[in-house]
Amino acid sequence: MHDRLPSSAPLTDLGKRYWLPVYRPRELVLDHGKGAHVWDTQGRDYVDFGAGIAVNALGHQDPDLLDALTAQAHKLWHASNVFYTEPPLRLAEELVCASGFAERVFLCNSGAEANEAAIKLVRKWAASKGRAPEQRTIITFRGSFHGRTLATVTATAQPKYQEGYEPLPAGFRYLDFNDAAALELAFAAGDIAAVMLEPVQGEGGVLPAAPGFLKRVRELCDQHDALLVLDEIQCGMGRTGTLFAHTQDEVTPDIVTLAKALGCGFPIGVMLAGPKVAEVMQYGAHGTTFGGNPMAAAVARVALRKLGSPELLANVERQSAALRATLIQLGAEFGVFTDVRGRGLMLGAVLADAYKGRAGEVLDIAASHGLLLLQAGPDVLRLVPPLNITDEELADGLARLHTALRAFAAK
Ligand SMILES: Cc1ncc(COP(=O)(O)O)c(C=O)c1O
Repeated sequence: MHDRLPSSAPLTDLGKRYWLPVYRPRELVLDHGKGAHVWDTQGRDYVDFGAGIAVNALGHQDPDLLDALTAQAHKLWHASNVFYTEPPLRLAEELVCASGFAERVFLCNSGAEANEAAIKLVRKWAASKGRAPEQRTIITFRGSFHGRTLATVTATAQPKYQEGYEPLPAGFRYLDFNDAAALELAFAAGDIAAVMLEPVQGEGGVLPAAPGFLKRVRELCDQHDALLVLDEIQCGMGRTGTLFAHTQDEVTPDIVTLAKALGCGFPIGVMLAGPKVAEVMQYGAHGTTFGGNPMAAAVARVALRKLGSPELLANVERQSAALRATLIQLGAEFGVFTDVRGRGLMLGAVLADAYKGRAGEVLDIAASHGLLLLQAGPDVLRLVPPLNITDEELADGLARLHTALRAFAAK
């Protein structure tokens, strides 16, 4: 038996002592939030440009989400999938209608689980067509991020997430993102079952698919009888200015995965299955205890409705233009950015050569000036504020960013 830490020890010491040390959180303990602001246990306030890693798309304490959650909490918390409850039934229909392509829905609890389901569905589909296991290869792209389970971390074409977890599952091949010629060549091998990608890579550096790339991927998938799987876990649900990111690329996918903003902070994941694959998995083929949880589904129904509303999407466009313009201006003033990229309210500011590798430092300085930011790798600042951020909240955050960048550049 270990001794407990003294009750006077800072809360963060509990994390350092007891958590598996796979994270290195900033030295602050968040306590509560409202809109785009959060407060820590010391009473300091922050403007939240990270939104819990692109999750809190309606900010903190959205009244409609609160109502939905508390109403359901007073009715039924959990039933499992051996019984029906109303919220996930309604949510499934609403997702199918909103997607415009899906026929069936699998509800789960996280992004990784949604992608795991998608990978299994691809394999099952290929098997149902009589393809041997070595003919069921899934192509993914360097810089992608698809999750941390063994299959999704293998789909994640970044060695740093995979090292030490070998043997990894077989049947994945990695290509450079946006390289259509390499994709054509890969298809020539004749063993491809699917191409899986993020329309805007998130963790890998906030990198959008090049214009026309997704269309070319779709064409090649059609020519070679392969599936197009889109991971919209980070870029979906209004984040890039449309409810589904891929509508901007004018393609129809076979499978789409969602999580993050769909629950606006309550854990949920979804795999949407189009007509080619909707009937492939039958009774017993897959499952989950918590997936379709009525509390998560009740929240997600409200989130889906609000995130798809014209007012919200118009706000994303407007605030995106303001955020982008100020980032470009700040980059020029302090010489810290070489590029500002992304779509909607999923923007990345790429650090100039002289500052490469120092994104984490910017995050620390920003936090000390009352601004929560994210990074996407060591060289890119990632800005993913709530999608309903107001003019005042955005201006407040940008003023703090100005002060923080001045301090950073002066170091
Ligand atoms: C594009 C993308 N896919 C999948 C995941 C994994 O989601 P989760 O952390 O909910 O398992 C993430 C998480 O950051 C993501 O950004």
